[in-house]
Amino acid sequence: MAAPAMRGDLPPGQRVVIRAFGETPLDALEHHAALEDMAAPDPAALAPDEILLAIKSCGVAWVDLLMTSGQYQHMAAPPYCPGMEYSGVVVAAGAAVDPAQVKAGDAVFSDFILAGPRAGGRYQSSGGFASYAVLPAGAVRRVPAGFSFDEACNLLGNYETAWHCLIARGQLRAGETVLITGASGASGMAAVQVARLLGATVIATGRSDAKLAVVKAHGADHVINTGNEDGSPGVRRFRDEVKALTGGRGVDVVFDAVGGDTSLECLRCAAFGARFLIVGWTSTPFVARGRGQRGAPNANQLPTNLIQMKGLSVLGSPAVISVAQDPSIRPPRVAQIMQWVAEGRIRPHISHRYPLAEFKQAMLARWNGEVIGGCVLHP
Ligand SMILES: NC(=O)c1ccc[n+]([C@@H]2O[C@H](COP(=O)([O-])OP(=O)(O)OC[C@H]3O[C@@H](n4cnc5c(N)ncnc54)[C@H](OP(=O)(O)O)[C@@H]3O)[C@@H](O)[C@H]2O)c1
Repeated sequence: MAAPAMRGDLPPGQRVVIRAFGETPLDALEHHAALEDMAAPDPAALAPDEILLAIKSCGVAWVDLLMTSGQYQHMAAPPYCPGMEYSGVVVAAGAAVDPAQVKAGDAVFSDFILAGPRAGGRYQSSGGFASYAVLPAGAVRRVPAGFSFDEACNLLGNYETAWHCLIARGQLRAGETVLITGASGASGMAAVQVARLLGATVIATGRSDAKLAVVKAHGADHVINTGNEDGSPGVRRFRDEVKALTGGRGVDVVFDAVGGDTSLECLRCAAFGARFLIVGWTSTPFVARGRGQRGAPNANQLPTNLIQMKGLSVLGSPAVISVAQDPSIRPPRVAQIMQWVAEGRIRPHISHRYPLAEFKQAMLARWNGEVIGGCVLHP
């Protein structure tokens, strides 16, 4: 094994710290988020199974935003460093780390369920909005051949969500038609690619023609802008277009990442007996109270009359919570994703890149729906 670098060789870095939960993510960004100096971790202090990573890229996800106000189901107690998924170069490895698994100089990406704010336990503090992270060697994988650092840190969370929703829960099959809302988002773009790989026809929705053009270039068969033609807020009626695209039948599966009025219109687009996959609700993010106070005073509601008359299966589809309930479901989905990567069949799209110092701009771009697929920070 290469001799570990000494602390004195490593320049100091910086990291973002959320000092307290905000009332909303915007409040957290304005009042409780700061860029702080960070001493380089000491390689000599690594536990035998740990590695020290110099972070090159970190994804900026919707969930990273929701966590800053404690409005996501999983909380990291402030002060904490955000950044669920990141990639970089191994600087040093602990004495018990097998060099065949990972060694200094390797390009790796983190597993967000095992380290970082979406994880539990000791390594929850190892967020990716930072120059360095210390995490167990078992919480990283090698960056796939031909993948950039930016692509590697936009892989697992998004494609595991698509896999869990469309395959494990939705049982999507070749020849079926799936309606994907929020298709320009990180999960949506992954879902479009996975659905096409399965042989399904994809109808993708969004609020921007420019973003939908990129979604189409990534495989969507049809795109529908759900915004009102006069530019006023809200969701227009689009069931007629979906019915026309499906011979009057409606879609077999709905992958709904947007919620609210979009969900209601999607129920009208579903065929009798369709599967309606609850992915998320970006249009109604304030279900829980801010400042980590939990509860669900603004819980989403779906109309039981439509669900009943159409014989729909409404399926909650939480990709990570389901693993906590049954860890055996994860290895096959990760293996399938890594196989698709090796075969060149999936590749995350990244539209926005920022230096770490511009973390607020990056988070605002995500919050304001400017991003197509991935948004990353470069520490
Ligand atoms: N089920 C799971 O396991 C799982 C895993 C990860 C994430 N999620 C959830 O899934 C949802 C999507 O996550 P993501 O990472 O894909 O988010 P994202 O990258 O931010 O994308 C979501 C998309 O939703 C649309 N959108 C945003 N705000 C909206 C609004 N106010 N009204 C209508 N559309 C809006 C945007 O598309 P347009 O601008 O094109 O309309 C955006 O591209 C979130 O609620 C997240 O918490 C669930």
